Amino acid sequence: MTRKLWGGRFTKKTDPLVERFTSSIGVDYRLARYDVQGSMAHAKMLGRCGIVSLAESHRLVGGLTRILRSIERGAWKPDPQAEDIHTQIQATLEKLAGPVARKLQTARSRNDQVALDLRLYCRDAATALATAIRSVQRALVKLAATYRGVVIPGYTHLQRAQPILLAHQLLAYVEMLERDVERLQDARKRIDVLPLGAAALAGTSLPIDRSYVARLLKFPRIAQNSIDAVSDRDFVLELSSVMAGLGVHLSRLAEDFILWTTEEFGILSLDDAFATGSSLMPQKKNPDVLELIRGQAGFVIGQLVGCLGMLKGLPLSYNRDLQWDKRFLFSTVDASRDALAVLERLLRHVRVETSRLPRLLESDALCATDLVEYLVTRGVAFADAHALIGKVVASAQRHGKRLRDLSLDELRRWSSRFDGAALAVLDPRRSVEGKRSFGSTNPRLVAQALNRWKNRLRP
Ligand code: ARG
Repeated sequence: MTRKLWGGRFTKKTDPLVERFTSSIGVDYRLARYDVQGSMAHAKMLGRCGIVSLAESHRLVGGLTRILRSIERGAWKPDPQAEDIHTQIQATLEKLAGPVARKLQTARSRNDQVALDLRLYCRDAATALATAIRSVQRALVKLAATYRGVVIPGYTHLQRAQPILLAHQLLAYVEMLERDVERLQDARKRIDVLPLGAAALAGTSLPIDRSYVARLLKFPRIAQNSIDAVSDRDFVLELSSVMAGLGVHLSRLAEDFILWTTEEFGILSLDDAFATGSSLMPQKKNPDVLELIRGQAGFVIGQLVGCLGMLKGLPLSYNRDLQWDKRFLFSTVDASRDALAVLERLLRHVRVETSRLPRLLESDALCATDLVEYLVTRGVAFADAHALIGKVVASAQRHGKRLRDLSLDELRRWSSRFDGAALAVLDPRRSVEGKRSFGSTNPRLVAQALNRWKNRLRP
C-alpha cells in the first residue's frame, strides 16, 4: 500500500471498503502531468524563498523531471493502491529523491494542489476543444464552398418556408460554433487564476511567493481569497456549460442532417464509411453516428446538471464531494472531443444529392413571400399583399394547381397590380438572388461570408 499523506493521528488501518470507496486514482491519474508541473513550480518557489535549501529544491525538481519524462514517454501507470494521483507522485518522488521529498508538501495541501491541477487540465482542454471546433468549422465551410450554388427549401416549424442556399445554412452552424469558441476563450479568463498558496484553506505562516509560482505556471491572476481558492469549481461549471451548449449545437446540426438523409428529404447522403446497417433489414443505411452525436448532448447536459447538484449544498471550504468534479468534467471533455472529431470526418465525406433537389423546390408556394414583396414594390401595403397572396395560394390549392400554373389573366383577377413580371418571381433561384438585406441568403453575400470564414479559419 502506498503510504498515505495523512496517517499520523490514526490508530487503526482504514477499512478496505473505505479505501476503495474514497480512492480517486482511477479517475485523477489523468492529472499526473499537471500535478508534476505544479509541484515543480512549488519546489522552485520553496527554494527561492529559502523555505528549503537551493540544493534540496534542485533535488526535488530533478526527481519531478524524471517523473514528468516517464509520463511523457507513456511509461507512467496509475498505481491502484494509491489513494489519488497526488499520493502516487509523492510516493514515487520519495523513491527517486529520497527523504527530501517529504519537504515538498510544505505550505501546500492537496486542497490547493488539486484545484491547481484541475485548472491546468481545463486550460489544455479548452485549447484542444477550440482547435477541434475550428476543424469542424473548416469542414463546414469546405462543404458550403463545394455546393455554393445549391438551393434548398429553408424550414420554419419544419414546414417548407422559403428557398435558401444550402451554403447559407451550413454557415449558420459555423456561426453557432464560433460562439462556442468565444465562450471557451472567455472561460479561460476564469480558469487562469492560481489557487496554489491557499494551502488547506487559511494560507500559511511560511514566507511563500505566490506571484513567482503564477509566473512559472503562466497564470495572469492569483486567487484573492484562500477559502474561495480551494472551494471554487466555477471554472469546471463554466467549461461544462460551454460544452453543454456546444453539445446542443452539434445535436441540432445532427438532427438536420438526419432529416436531410431521409428518403423524404433526400438532400444529403452519408458516405458508407460513416453510416451503419441493420441486422434485420438489408436495405437500411442508418445515420447512427449523427444519432450518437445528438444523444451525446443529453449526456453532457446531464454531467453539467450533476456537477451543479454536487456543488449546491457545500459549505465552505473544501469538502470531499468535490472529488466528483473530475468524473463530470473528464467524461464531458472526452465526449465532446470524440463528437467533434467524428463529425469533422463525416462532414468531409458527405454528398449533396443535387439531382434530387429540383423535386423539393417544385412547390412554388415556397416563393409566395416573394410574390408579396413583388406587390409591395407595386405599391400595395404589405399586410394587404400578404392577405391577397394567402387567398391566391388557397384558391390554387383548391383547384389542384401550382401558383406557376396560373396565367397572368388569372392573377389579374385578384389584383390589377400584377404585371408581366409577376410569374417570373416564382422561381427559387430568383428568390435567393433577389434577397438584398445584409446577412441574407443572397448568393453574392453568401460568397462573401464564405470568403470571410475561409480567411478567418486559415490555420
Ligand atoms: N482526491 C481529492 C480530490 O479529488 C484530492 C484532495 C483531497 N483532499 C482532502 N483533504 N481529502 O478532491
